[in-house]
Amino acid sequence: MSFSAQILCWFDKNKRSLPWRNDKDPYQIWLSEIILQQTKVIQGLPYYNKFIHAFPTIKHLANASEDEVLKLWQGLGYYSRARNLHYTAKEIVKKYNSVFPKDYKTILKLKGIGPYTAAAITSFAYNLPYAVVDGNVIRLLSRYFGVQTSFDSSKGKKEFQLLAEELLIKEKAGKNNQAIMEFGALQCVPKSPNCSICPLQNECFAFNNNLVFQLPKRAKKLKIKKRFFDFLIITQNDKLFIQKRKKGIWKGLYQFPLIEHEEVKSERIIKTSDTWRNMFEGATTTITKISPQIKHQLTHQTIYARFWHIDANILLPKNTDCIRKEELIQYPIPKLLEKYLKNIGII
Ligand code: ADE
Repeated sequence: MSFSAQILCWFDKNKRSLPWRNDKDPYQIWLSEIILQQTKVIQGLPYYNKFIHAFPTIKHLANASEDEVLKLWQGLGYYSRARNLHYTAKEIVKKYNSVFPKDYKTILKLKGIGPYTAAAITSFAYNLPYAVVDGNVIRLLSRYFGVQTSFDSSKGKKEFQLLAEELLIKEKAGKNNQAIMEFGALQCVPKSPNCSICPLQNECFAFNNNLVFQLPKRAKKLKIKKRFFDFLIITQNDKLFIQKRKKGIWKGLYQFPLIEHEEVKSERIIKTSDTWRNMFEGATTTITKISPQIKHQLTHQTIYARFWHIDANILLPKNTDCIRKEELIQYPIPKLLEKYLKNIGII
């Protein structure tokens, strides 16, 4: 049996029943694939269900506010995925009369949709012969065929794409693509794969050469940046101050006024910083608590955060909203803030 035939056979016996596999609605497939980028099915599934419940069609999604979309996305991370999803829903409603395009090139031009997502949508929904290459596929191909080229180099990207295209059984493109990804997600997993039950064990290059843990290869080391955040939770009777982030990974989310540094700073330095002075000039302030430093790990950065609880009678700073404490729950906020506020019982 060929590699792809074996994968298909395995898929028939082992596939998970997932809601977006039930029918071939391109909207459901698109939504699920955007959620599942950088996210495992177990974590993504509740979000998918929440989204489909709130926005059963592209039109519903397009008519939502960005705050609503980000609130439902809260906790999943990589918030640009949610912003692009919303943008593209509006574009499809406006430009394509709410009908998801069918053509690969047109789909690829949509914001937030790259070659992987375009191939997933066109093959799953319309059985068009485009091969998907994601982390699951790369891992499996690299191990099975012994591809040693780094997958994050331009040479590696081309090589994996070509190999996936060669292997694709075109008449069964949709099923073949789902099968190869599912195999990578369930059987050929990154850490401790159970090779003893793998149907591809005999012909697997990595297994036969004891390279399972060396493949696939990455060229660039992940660079992790450290950031130091001092959030100011300023309260005035039952009021609270929040700001909408304008850029970066948390763009569109709300947070407390923030003093940011590239290295750890003493409390004295924070209290004498320009941001602090501008914020509290002429006000009476009482610092009721400063939290211990909290470490928050993201893929490309480590955030060390402190939360300052301050009672103050300040004027409304620029770009800031004044809300009632109980309204905070309605706003999309980063997980770091949600976790902290839950821990201390504020939400
Ligand atoms: N991860 C991302 N998309 C997936 C899919 N369609 N099936 C299994 N795992 C996935």
